[in-house]
Amino acid sequence: MRKTIKDIQAHKNKAEPLVCLTAYTARVAQLLDPHCDLLLVGDSMGMVLYGMDSTRGVSLEMMINHGRAVASGSARACIVVDMPYGTYEDSPGQALENARRVMDETGCDAVKLEGGAKMAETIETLVNAGIPVVGHIGLMPQSVSEESDFRVKGRSADSAAQLLADAKAIERAGVSAMVIEATIEPVAAGITQAVSVPTIGIGASVACDGQILVTEDMVGITGGHVPKFVKQYARVGEMIGEAAARYAADVRSRAFPEDAQIYRKKAS
Ligand code: KIV
Repeated sequence: MRKTIKDIQAHKNKAEPLVCLTAYTARVAQLLDPHCDLLLVGDSMGMVLYGMDSTRGVSLEMMINHGRAVASGSARACIVVDMPYGTYEDSPGQALENARRVMDETGCDAVKLEGGAKMAETIETLVNAGIPVVGHIGLMPQSVSEESDFRVKGRSADSAAQLLADAKAIERAGVSAMVIEATIEPVAAGITQAVSVPTIGIGASVACDGQILVTEDMVGITGGHVPKFVKQYARVGEMIGEAAARYAADVRSRAFPEDAQIYRKKAS
C-alpha cells in the first residue's frame, strides 16, 4: 500500500530516518520505489533534465506531466510534487488554484513549496483546503538570484535565528514535514528538536529526521559542480559514456548489429 503524507508525518521521533529521493520519470520511480519512503518530483528537473540554468523556468505543466509519470511508476512511496516558481508566491488564492491542479492531475499526496514565515499564510490556506504541504527552508533554489545566495545557511546568529523562526512559522501554518537545505548541523539539529514534524535534510547533517538527494547526483549522472553534501553511490554517467563509446565503435566497424539482433526469413 502507498505511504501517505500522514505516514511520513508520523515518522517523527522514529529511530529509523526517512529515505527520500527525487524522481522525474516513471522508470526511475519504479527503480527507487521499493527503497524509498518518499519520492519528490522536484523542480530540480529544470536543471537536471531540461538543462536550464535555474529552477525558475519550470512550468506547472512540466511538474504535472512528470508528477503523473512518477505516480504511475510507483506503488509504495509517498509522492510529493514541487510547486514551481511563479505559481504560488503572489497570493494564497493563486497557490490554492495551482496546488489543486497539481493534486488532481497527478494523484500526488502533497505539494512542496519554498519559503519560511512569508509563506505561512499560503501554507495555512492550502492545508485548510485539505492540501498537505511540505515546506522547504534553508537554501531555497527558487530564490537564488546571485552567487552569495548559494552560501550555506545558519552560520551567523541572525541567520540561525531566522531559520528557527521560519521553521516554527511553517510548522504553525500546518506543514506535514519540511526540507532543510544546505544548513549547518547545529541549526538543523536545533530545528529538528524544536518542531513536531519531520525534517528532511539535504546538506543539513544526519541530525534530521530523514534525508533526500537528487537521484541523478546520487548515481553520478549530473555533470558540472557536485555539491559537498552529495555522496555518489554509483557512476552511471561514466557507464553511459563507456557504453556509448563501445556502441559507436561497433556501429562504425559494422560489428553491430550481430546475428542475434537481425531478423531473417523464417525457415518454411
Ligand atoms: O527540487 C528538488 O529536487 C528539491 C530537493 C533538492 C529537495 O527541492
